[in-house]
Amino acid sequence: MNAPDELAWRLFLQVNAAAPGVNNALFETWTSDSDTFQLNPAFPTGPSPIRPRPPVIPSGGQAVAAPGISRRKTRAAPLVIPLRPVPPKPDLTGEEVRRNRDAFDFIVKNKLYTVSGLKAAAGKSFSFPPTAIEIKAEWLPVEEIPAFMLNRIALADVPRQFHVNTAADGKQYGLIAMHIITKLVPNWTWDTFEHELNPARCDIIGCNDQFGMPAPGSTPANTSVWMGYGPCLKTEAVRALFASAKWDSAFEHYCLKGTQTDFSDRTGLAIRLGNSIAEKGFVQQSSCMTCHARAAWGPDGKKTSHDGFDENGPPLGAINLAWFWKFTGNPPIFVGMGGLTQTATSADFVWSVARCAYDDTATPPKIPCGEK
Ligand code: HEC
Repeated sequence: MNAPDELAWRLFLQVNAAAPGVNNALFETWTSDSDTFQLNPAFPTGPSPIRPRPPVIPSGGQAVAAPGISRRKTRAAPLVIPLRPVPPKPDLTGEEVRRNRDAFDFIVKNKLYTVSGLKAAAGKSFSFPPTAIEIKAEWLPVEEIPAFMLNRIALADVPRQFHVNTAADGKQYGLIAMHIITKLVPNWTWDTFEHELNPARCDIIGCNDQFGMPAPGSTPANTSVWMGYGPCLKTEAVRALFASAKWDSAFEHYCLKGTQTDFSDRTGLAIRLGNSIAEKGFVQQSSCMTCHARAAWGPDGKKTSHDGFDENGPPLGAINLAWFWKFTGNPPIFVGMGGLTQTATSADFVWSVARCAYDDTATPPKIPCGEK
């Protein structure tokens, strides 16, 4: 908690260490959402090729109505600072979530992979083990990379500067961004990395890394967006870590954009952190911890919000008790008071649990995250 940026880099080395399989990093041998959330969850026994799928989070930060909540007549004002020039269309970014064995075993042991399992678990309290690690990786087909990176790299140089691997569809993809979370602290550690050539890497909210970036440890946002920032300079400390790493040396071309350790600062300002790829279009309205704190399911075993978004867009700051409780009467509100009922169960910050559970209550059963 006192050195979150150093921890983030150590985790980056850990999850990206070389692993069995052609050009595999350790995280690529872990289990994906599609392997986890099915009737018979399976942890891969050998290399399991990546299967990037289209992004889930509503991009552009559009305010959306939560299920069961009707849209107000006056629509919320757009929250987005438009990106100019706009990123290339169509958006070919592919995403994949992977989790380590301890995170997977926890989900299986507690039967959090089916909707009937979530129904049975409603009202209970869950906490993943301290050794749980989950990542979300953002991939781009290799041939798309030069244009996306404003032609600041030639196609032939992509494999040296990007971690590249072959997906299940036989196509080559390059890693452009990565989220890492671990349960080392009760509310998880929140880290996000970007490739140094990502054109919007530090846009709007800047970049902040007190360990890997030379003083002052931050890069202010460009006054215009989507212009690029050039290579990220590295401290001796992070270089020493790199020297000890056994990995695809292309990983040295990634930068820690920032870490989040709390919901708000000591003056009540909401802490924001968002990745220019994963939270594209709403980095200025992104709080990893707040949106993930909203990952929850109702008595029916279904998620209780539209992936964290509501009419005001993504949530910021402290957890809102109305996401989890209904009450009659007047504050103060406390556990044990009359008229307080729990309406949602926390997924311990893990969105996949709330939105990917295999729906065995539907006929035929539905696999919300079953891209194979
Ligand atoms: C507005 C909501 C929102 C914000 C903000 C957000 N996420 Fe997520 N995140 C999601 C949703 C929804 C998923 C599941 C769908 C998917 O895989 O994209 C997810 C998936 C993940 C996963 C895979 C494990 C899981 O929970 O399913 C990780 C790791 C992750 N996010 C990290 C981060 C980090 C780090 C940040 C901040 C830099 C962040 N997220 C910001 C909504 C959000």
